[in-house]
Amino acid sequence: MSALAPRLEIEVVTLFPEEVRAALTIGVVGRALGRGLVRVGLQDPRSLTTDVHGTVDDRPYGGGPGMVLKVEPLATSLDEAVRRVPAGSPRIYLSAQGRRFDQATARRLAALPGFVLLAGRYEGVDQRLIDESIDEELSIGDYVLSGGELAALVVIDAVVRLVPGVLGAVESAEQESFAAGDAGGLLDWPHYTRPPEWRGLKVPDVLLSGDHERIRRWRLKQALGRTAALRADLLVERNLSSEEQLLLDEYREEDDS
Ligand code: ADE
Repeated sequence: MSALAPRLEIEVVTLFPEEVRAALTIGVVGRALGRGLVRVGLQDPRSLTTDVHGTVDDRPYGGGPGMVLKVEPLATSLDEAVRRVPAGSPRIYLSAQGRRFDQATARRLAALPGFVLLAGRYEGVDQRLIDESIDEELSIGDYVLSGGELAALVVIDAVVRLVPGVLGAVESAEQESFAAGDAGGLLDWPHYTRPPEWRGLKVPDVLLSGDHERIRRWRLKQALGRTAALRADLLVERNLSSEEQLLLDEYREEDDS
């Protein structure tokens, strides 16, 4: 552990802490936690229930299928979690009804000292908890998961890699040029590694040329061309520089020929 306080403190309120814990040991996130740059705490509402059965859910008022998470165990759990993060940390509920989580939101959360994630299960949580105790509702996409745990892990992964010091110098320099410089807001360009030829398929010559300026222009051109082809919506809000417009025109011409 680092002797310094973590730069980011996250708490996850979940009925399945083991699911979250297991994923947090792996890769970039695992290393960030191991180095003490980020702390993730887990709060299981079942551990705070007062009845012998550890009841956390109940039948919905008004009838219908499934169960609803009860307000009291979740409220108590959120209070516990909030006590362990810096003052003012937002409480975020993960649900399919939330605003779409994106890279801009990841950047905003990575700049905070902390936040609390609430993962729902079953049919959802009692609306009074959302009204009283939740600052923000986030969805990771237009599909229904059986619980918010995977969504919480998606948010944690995307945020933690943006925390200063988590990625190595080379990786973060690359990421900065992608986020703020030439290719910000575009899809990634294609990547290749050895061998230079596989089953008759060759790596583009330019990447073997050692000419850094040509490689930069080729990558930017590919990023622009792919974005125009696959996610034209991303280009609508983005003003292309004159170099980018030129490269995109070139890409389209090459694509036609
Ligand atoms: N819980 C269930 N579905 C979800 C989604 N799409 N995003 C976030 N949390 C969820």
